[in-house]
Amino acid sequence: MTQTCILAFLSALTVVVAISWTATPFNPLSIPLAVRSPSLSCWLPGGNDGGNLAGQWPEFWTGATLGWAGYVRVDNTTYVYMGAPSVPNLSPPLATQTNFAFTSTQSIFKLNAGPITLPASFLSPIEPNDLLRQSLPFSYLAISVESNDGAPHSVQIYSDISAEWVSGDDALVASWSTHTGDIMTHQVQLRTQELFSEVNEHTQYGAAYYSVASGGTYQTGADVNVRTQFINNGKLTNTEDTNYRAVDQNWPVFGHAFDLGSVRAATAPIVFSIGHARDPALQYIVMNDASKMAYSMLLRFSSGITLVHSPPPMPSTLTYTPMRVQSPRTTQPSSLSPPVKPLVLELTIGTSSDDILMFMKEISSDGNVNTVDVIFPAYPIFLYTNPALARYLLEPLFQYQNTGQSPNKWSGHDMGSHYPNATGHNDGSDEAMPVEESGNMVIMSAAYMKATGDSALGSSYYNLLQQWTSFLINDSLIPANQISTDDFAGALANQTNLAIKGIVGIAGMSQIASALGKTVDAQYYSSIAQSYVPLFEGFATSKDGSHLDLSYGNDSSWGITYNLYADKLLQANLFPDHLYEMQTDWYPTVKQPYGIPLDTRHLYTKTDWQIFMSAGVTSNSTRDLFIESVASFQKGGLTNEPFPDLYDTNTGEQDVIQFKARPVVGGHFAHLALKAL
Ligand SMILES: *[C@@H]1O[C@H](CO)[C@@H](O)[C@H](O)[C@H]1NC(C)=O
Ligand SMILES: *[C@@H]1O[C@H](CO)[C@@H](O)[C@H](O)[C@H]1NC(C)=O
Ligand SMILES: *[C@@H]1O[C@H](CO)[C@@H](O)[C@H](O)[C@H]1NC(C)=O
Ligand SMILES: *[C@@H]1O[C@H](CO)[C@@H](O)[C@H](O)[C@H]1NC(C)=O
Ligand SMILES: *[C@@H]1O[C@H](CO)[C@@H](O)[C@H](O)[C@H]1NC(C)=O
Ligand SMILES: *[C@@H]1O[C@H](CO)[C@@H](O)[C@H](O)[C@H]1NC(C)=O
Repeated sequence: MTQTCILAFLSALTVVVAISWTATPFNPLSIPLAVRSPSLSCWLPGGNDGGNLAGQWPEFWTGATLGWAGYVRVDNTTYVYMGAPSVPNLSPPLATQTNFAFTSTQSIFKLNAGPITLPASFLSPIEPNDLLRQSLPFSYLAISVESNDGAPHSVQIYSDISAEWVSGDDALVASWSTHTGDIMTHQVQLRTQELFSEVNEHTQYGAAYYSVASGGTYQTGADVNVRTQFINNGKLTNTEDTNYRAVDQNWPVFGHAFDLGSVRAATAPIVFSIGHARDPALQYIVMNDASKMAYSMLLRFSSGITLVHSPPPMPSTLTYTPMRVQSPRTTQPSSLSPPVKPLVLELTIGTSSDDILMFMKEISSDGNVNTVDVIFPAYPIFLYTNPALARYLLEPLFQYQNTGQSPNKWSGHDMGSHYPNATGHNDGSDEAMPVEESGNMVIMSAAYMKATGDSALGSSYYNLLQQWTSFLINDSLIPANQISTDDFAGALANQTNLAIKGIVGIAGMSQIASALGKTVDAQYYSSIAQSYVPLFEGFATSKDGSHLDLSYGNDSSWGITYNLYADKLLQANLFPDHLYEMQTDWYPTVKQPYGIPLDTRHLYTKTDWQIFMSAGVTSNSTRDLFIESVASFQKGGLTNEPFPDLYDTNTGEQDVIQFKARPVVGGHFAHLALKAL
């Protein structure tokens, strides 16, 4: 390469399309618009070439387009404030984005459309202490307008969604209806409902709802017709298109319009609710390989419907109020993760009202139900927001394995291969992570009991917990060749980090026994855990005493020993200070431009594990090194997908293994969970 070539190449690499608006606290990789459940997961691509509400389509987490369009008409001139709608012979200009801000629950845009300013707030509530409200698969959009030149202007607002919200295959036929009354609701569903099935990760049953308080006009029909009607007239026809057809055939859209009249001061917001609900939500395995239904709370409780239409208050003004304040410094891990809305799960109810369960989809990596090693990294957000949620999430795993149908002596990996079928693994063929999952279940149970003082979980499943601990006693000091949660990195024998998890798990069992008054058992488990620590140190420490090896005896290897976080979480104080100090001193020596690699096998790393490690080191500078690494990736703008948790520490780009929108980012609350216990 010539010198000029190299320069051209380098400058091409560093091209950054600067955003033209103010972003608070920064312009994220992807912006959540309506994110509450595996079927309600709508994002706006962000990063260096995105983040503009007007001019690009929102997307399902997979990247599939979700039609959601908005126009504002000011003195007869129409502007696009949302989406990328196109109508023949009419090309309304885009409103100009001037501000964007996000908090734990809101994404707030401010746009100028000629002489008016339009704040648009998207709210996906987190309501961990109100199970019914938390279970609602609904998000909200509030829009208001005000004059920005002091003069009054005639303003009309329009919003629609397409039928893309109900299927992963746009060739399938949808049907729809509009319900009028106090609340105007468009309901859309697939004509042929496929219970419990998904296509391209999108649910194929249930319905999408787009509602607003009455007072406006509505229309359903082909996108060009409905949108042209609004652009030309500022109102809709109050008519329904009943020619049910494929999602992509003359694209049916479901529109609402409001005439705000002559506007000078800020108007009261118009609040739209958008959601997707299914009933039953899941099926799960019980005794004798039978299945039981887990139902939608919304559709079982009539008050749920009322709640959908009385969203929590949402500001229409642009104030940045982080919902939660994180401990260390200003680079707050919790303000890095909020755009993800980590409480993406389904709270369900069985046939009796105390039969509450919670389900989580392993989004993007494989679609498994309640994956134990995805719940473990996400666990801090539950411990912090409401530890009772943790039990609803662990219960399905315990109930199933307590039936004795799973043949393995270690803890299973998940409740079913593909959401929403929690149909178990009676052939024992779930992805085997023996030490990982056994350790996770015991540690999470101990942490739950510590956080709540509720010992029922431990007493109900004591035998299972003992069985898994017995496995840890046999197999965690010298872990066999196996994978850890980081399965993409491959199998390895004698993994230091797995041994840490197993040993902390044994200590966790001692705490569980102790809480149940079983002092003999408590003493037994505690003494084994204690006795393993020096042996472990001997196996795992490099000969020069500079770091823990990735695998015993290989001194040129190392990794992020994030399982030490579990020792902190349980306050077990198993591992000595000098071991923590050694690791704390080591990581700054192996930092790459965008962070600390997960281990010596690759340059990629995980955001969740870096934050876990940051909560387990002994110096503020190493703590901040990890936190700022995650921040540098978040702010780098080099991808536009929903919060990837696996990225390259050298380039700052998303890894080729494209993890997105995964629940594991709940781990960014690791510091807060420590304080909550
Ligand atoms: C908007 O159009 C209506 C109907 O054509 C007209 O009466 C009105 O004067 C127009 N308003 C403006 C501000 O141009
Ligand atoms: C769930 O199981 C049902 C049969 O009960 C099947 O039709 C469906 O395809 C499965 N769904 C997924 C996502 O695998
Ligand atoms: C480390 O940071 C904490 C706040 O997160 C602060 O209270 C403490 O004083 C700092 N320690 C040192 C040695 O600077
Ligand atoms: C652990 O080893 C003991 C002694 O060999 C054995 O009795 C026990 O079944 C093993 N536990 C598990 C869970 O494999
Ligand atoms: C694992 O480590 C132990 C202790 O150092 C050693 O005896 C054993 O050979 C190692 N196993 C493998 C597969 O390397
Ligand atoms: C030791 O670890 C390094 C880095 O992960 C790896 O490249 C090497 O193959 C390992 N050596 C052995 C003997 O496993």
